[in-house]
Amino acid sequence: MSLGYSFMPSPFYITTAIDYANGSPHLGHAYEKVLSDVISRHMRMGGRKVHFLTGLDEHGQKVQQTAQKRGVEPQVLVDEIAAVFKGMLGDLNISHDDYIRTTEPRHKKVVQGFLQQLFDQGLIYKGQKTDWYSTRQEQFLTDKDRAPDGSWPEIYGEVTQTTEENYYFKLTQFQPWLIEHIRSHPEFITPRFRQNQVLEFLKEPMNDLCISRPKTRLAWGIELPFDTSFVTYVWFDALTNYYSAVADKGLWPADVHVIGKDILSPPHAVYWPCMLKALGIEPPRQLLVHGWWTVNNQKASKSAGNAADTLGFVASHGADAFRFYLCREMVVGQDADFSTITFENRYKADLGNNLGNLVNRLLNMVGRNYAGAIPAASADEELEQDLRRLWDDSVRKYAEAFAEYQVSHALEALWVFISAMNAYIEARAPWKLAKSADAADRARLDSCLAHVAEGLRLVGTLLTPVMPATCAKLLTNIGRPVAASFEGQLTWSAVCTGSNVAEKCILFPPVEAPQETSAT
Ligand code: ME8
Ligand code: MG
Repeated sequence: MSLGYSFMPSPFYITTAIDYANGSPHLGHAYEKVLSDVISRHMRMGGRKVHFLTGLDEHGQKVQQTAQKRGVEPQVLVDEIAAVFKGMLGDLNISHDDYIRTTEPRHKKVVQGFLQQLFDQGLIYKGQKTDWYSTRQEQFLTDKDRAPDGSWPEIYGEVTQTTEENYYFKLTQFQPWLIEHIRSHPEFITPRFRQNQVLEFLKEPMNDLCISRPKTRLAWGIELPFDTSFVTYVWFDALTNYYSAVADKGLWPADVHVIGKDILSPPHAVYWPCMLKALGIEPPRQLLVHGWWTVNNQKASKSAGNAADTLGFVASHGADAFRFYLCREMVVGQDADFSTITFENRYKADLGNNLGNLVNRLLNMVGRNYAGAIPAASADEELEQDLRRLWDDSVRKYAEAFAEYQVSHALEALWVFISAMNAYIEARAPWKLAKSADAADRARLDSCLAHVAEGLRLVGTLLTPVMPATCAKLLTNIGRPVAASFEGQLTWSAVCTGSNVAEKCILFPPVEAPQETSAT
C-alpha cells in the first residue's frame, strides 16, 4: 500500500518555532517538537531526505532583564537555557538534524545581510513614533489591541507609552501581494480555517513594521549594520532563523513551519512572507498551525508555570507513551487539555490493553503451540479476509490523514485496526482451537497466529515514527528487524512465517503518574 506520496529524492525541510530563552520548556514546546519529529520520521520512512530544524530564540528584552536580575551576562543565561531545552529534545527522542541559536555567528551574518539589503533597496527608513508598548510581548500596540472595555488584555503584561526614533520596514506595500498569495495558495496556511483569521487581519491597512530598538533600551540583540546605535527587533531576528540555518545548504524554501496559533498572525503569516518577498526570496510552502495545550483548562505557559510538571510523564511513562498521548489527544489546529486522567486512560486502554496485551498474547500462544516460531497461514476464512481488508482500509485512512498532518486522525484509524485484531482473536478463540484434535481447527490456529503476527508487524512499522523505541521493541520481539523504511513494508505479507518470537514482552508496564505539584 502506497502512502500517498512516492519515494521522492527532493529534500523535505521542516522547522519548529524557536523557543524563547526566557524560561523552562513546557508542554507546548514539547508538543511542537514531537509533532514535527513524528512528521520528520514519517517522511524519512516514506523515502524523503528530511532536514529537521529546531532551535532557540535568544535575544530580546526579557532575556536582558532576567540576566540583569541574576547578575550574569545574557550569553551565560542563554547558554544555560539552551542546555535545558536541548535536554528536553533528548528526553523526547527528537531526531532533529540541526539546532539553531540566534546568537550564533551564522545567524547574525544572515540577519545583517537581510537588513543591509532592505536598507539599500530603500525598504527601511527611519521614523519617530509615540506608541503603546508591551514588554511581555515585545511589541508596539495599537488601539485595535485593546479589550472591548478599553483595557489592555492580560497577555500584554505591563503596557507603557514611549516616544522613540526607530527604523521601519515598508511592510505596507506588500499587503496586496500577500493577500493574493494567500488566496492562490490554499495550502499555505494549514488547517484551512486559520486562513480566514489572517485574511481578516489583512482587511485593515497594515502599518509598517518597526524593526529596531535603540541600544539604550535594548542592548541584547543583533546590531543594525547601517546604524550601530540600534539592534534589530526580535521578530525580524527570530524569523530569519529558518533561512539562516540553511543559507548554505540549498534547502530553501522550507516545506513546513510548524508553529502555534499565537504566532501565526502577524509574525509568520504576514511579516515573514513580506520580508522574504522584499528580499526576492520565495516564501515557505506551508505554515502548519497547532492550537494550545491547556492544563486543567488553563493555557500552558511559562508565565503561569502550570505546565512544566506535565513533562514528568516522560520520566514516569516513557517518551513514547508521552509522544503517543500528545499526538493522539490533540487534533492539529485545535486546543487540547492535558490531564492525568486522560493520560492514564490512554496509557492503560489504548497502549496497555489494546496493543501491549495483544503482543503478549501472541508471544504466549506461539511459544506454547509452535515452540516460538510463527506458523504459516493456511486456513483463509471470512474472518481473515475481513481483517486484511480492514488493514488496507486503515493504512489508506492513516495516509490520508497524515497527508494533512492530522496525526490524531491517523492514529484513530490505526487503532480501529488494532481493536479489530483484538476482536478477531476473541472470535477465533485460539485457546479453544489449540485444544481441538481437528485438522481444520489446527489450520485455523495457524492462520490466527500468523494473522496477528503480521498485523502487529504492520502496526509496528507504521507506528514507528510516533513510538520509535516501542515499535523497535515490538518488532524485535516478534522476530522482525526494526523498521527503517515504509517501502514494501506496509502491505500484508507472509514475512513473519518462521520468525522466532521472544518469550514475553512488556511494552507498557503499569506505572504511577508523577506527583502533581503546581498542577491540581
Ligand atoms: O513564540 N500549547 O517562543 P515561545 C501549544 N520565540 N503550543 C504552545 C504553547 C501551548 N500552551 N505555548 C507555547 C515564541 N506554544 C517565539 C517564536 S519563531 C521564529 C519565534 C508554542 O517559547 C508557541 O505557539 O513563546 C510557539 O510555536 C512555540 O511554542 C514557542 O513559543
Ligand atoms: Mg509564547
